[in-house]
Amino acid sequence: MTSPQTIRLDAAHFDAKALQWDENPVFRERGQKIAQAIRQAIPLDPHMSALDYGSGTGLLSFPLKDELGSILLADSSGGMLDVAAKKIAEQGVRNMTTVKLDLMVDPLPEQRFDIIFTSMTLHHVPDTDRILHIFHDLLKPGGHLCIADLDKEDGSFHGIEVDVHHGFDRTELTQRAEKAGFCDVRFQTVFNIAKEHETGKRDYPVFLMTARGVNL
Ligand SMILES: C[S@@+](CC[C@H](N)C(=O)[O-])C[C@H]1O[C@@H](n2cnc3c(N)ncnc32)[C@H](O)[C@@H]1O
Repeated sequence: MTSPQTIRLDAAHFDAKALQWDENPVFRERGQKIAQAIRQAIPLDPHMSALDYGSGTGLLSFPLKDELGSILLADSSGGMLDVAAKKIAEQGVRNMTTVKLDLMVDPLPEQRFDIIFTSMTLHHVPDTDRILHIFHDLLKPGGHLCIADLDKEDGSFHGIEVDVHHGFDRTELTQRAEKAGFCDVRFQTVFNIAKEHETGKRDYPVFLMTARGVNL
């Protein structure tokens, strides 16, 4: 029996999805719900600088823009960033900028941030430990990390042939975050994605993990 071919969801995949991304009401509601959970978990203020990593079109950043000083939207997909930049220009937003950035291959930006948030992107990044260490390096001492992603699942969310992490076990991710230098790691469930499969409807909970960079 031949093994099924592995599919990689690369930047070209997200480029092709970018123009229709915001038409999906589940994506829009997910961004709103995660934003709400972040503002309840962390005292945001208009002096804070933020990095939204894997920002896509900015569905998480736009709801938070008036509560933060600046937001850098970083993504490896130029198509996603083009949509984000168009929205920024159309709405006359002055505190959001975009950058094409893949922290797995590109040099780290020089800026350091008060808060990093990332929504549904961690499962696309192959080396979880490395990206957690990079997030720690990019935060100011005591800065906040907010990761929204899928709880551990059986691979049916994307399809077993797709080369992504199948969600994350909360205990294991806590240990990885602590090893990367984070403390005060907390989880809550913030959203549920329901998907229809041939075998029936399946629920995929989305967690928000918040943590603080240890003060060095
Ligand atoms: C599922 S989408 C989520 C987009 C957005 N955060 C949202 O919630 O609507 C994942 C995003 O991560 C980006 N991405 C995947 N791997 C990345 C990487 N290594 N570096 C930067 N962005 C990445 C993709 O281009 C895509 O925009």
